[in-house]
Amino acid sequence: MIDQLQKTAMQMVAPGRGILAMDESTGTCTSRFENLGVKSTPTTRKSYRSLLVTTPNLSDYISGAILFDETLRQTVSGEATFPEHLAHQGIVPGIKVDKGAKPLAGHPGEKVTEGLDGLRERLVEYVQLGARFAKWRAVITIGDGIPSDACIMANAHGLARYAALCQEAGLVPIVEPEVLMDGSHDIEACREVSDKTFHIVFAQLEEQRVEPSGIVLKPNMVLSGKDCPQQADVDEVAEQTVDCLLATVPAEVPGIAFLSGGQTDEQATLHLNRMNQLDKDVPWRLTFSYGRALQQAPMKAWSGNDENSAQVHDAALRRALVNAYASKGEYSESLEASN
Ligand code: 13P
Repeated sequence: MIDQLQKTAMQMVAPGRGILAMDESTGTCTSRFENLGVKSTPTTRKSYRSLLVTTPNLSDYISGAILFDETLRQTVSGEATFPEHLAHQGIVPGIKVDKGAKPLAGHPGEKVTEGLDGLRERLVEYVQLGARFAKWRAVITIGDGIPSDACIMANAHGLARYAALCQEAGLVPIVEPEVLMDGSHDIEACREVSDKTFHIVFAQLEEQRVEPSGIVLKPNMVLSGKDCPQQADVDEVAEQTVDCLLATVPAEVPGIAFLSGGQTDEQATLHLNRMNQLDKDVPWRLTFSYGRALQQAPMKAWSGNDENSAQVHDAALRRALVNAYASKGEYSESLEASN
């Protein structure tokens, strides 16, 4: 079993490719559609997502795609389901399995991710539907007196229990602890909380007997808070992020695929690129698993009109391509315009 998990994990972080996060819950997808004046229905969500995964040559740059439950059960166009279509293109299909971050009792302003009840049974069905990996996102908020130890521990424990169940079912768990960039904290505060969070997450993974060589880590980058007046530059973000990961992530983990977390498309690309240029002895592949930083442009190009397919495909392929180059440290601005 572990051999198969390692093989899938290596495919997910294959050199020069990254993961497309297209697993927005219905609520999140609806608010993004509404921002563009588009009605969110199962049909419009399927139309948009079908366009995304039928982008010609997408698999040159995309190794895996994370789906939402609804999408896993839909067909692209014609007969093939989303997982079948993706697998046929050489893109590994995955599924978001958490049930969202809910308020943590007794801890105002903090959240814990739910979804462990019945998870073992749901994973069996997801495997039958073609998923080869799963995702669970935990969020940690920085603010006045937070995060609490209780919040970090509850989230780390949930991630570890989820990851153990995934490996039991033959699915590679994407372990996603996200220290949010919301707030006015400086980069040092993000570094401190990220160090502590990732450290506790890996201690919990070990305690729950999760095999580190059969997971993919999906962390935040170490960034200044969005409202911090002193914004760290690209070099500092890259240095702090890699140093944080070197201090907390076992070398057996095959790959680290970052979330974009509200960075601009450009920042997400530049930060990943710089990390891959640093002269540090990094034992894992460093790539992307972006949602917004891959989808903002194609979703806008679509804006509810399926006739914009050429523009959607251009925009989707462009963001995938530039980030694939960044995952090799070979991004240059000229890629934004070339064919
Ligand atoms: P963003 O890249 O938009 O942060 O989304 C990644 C993701 O999968 C969040 O869980």
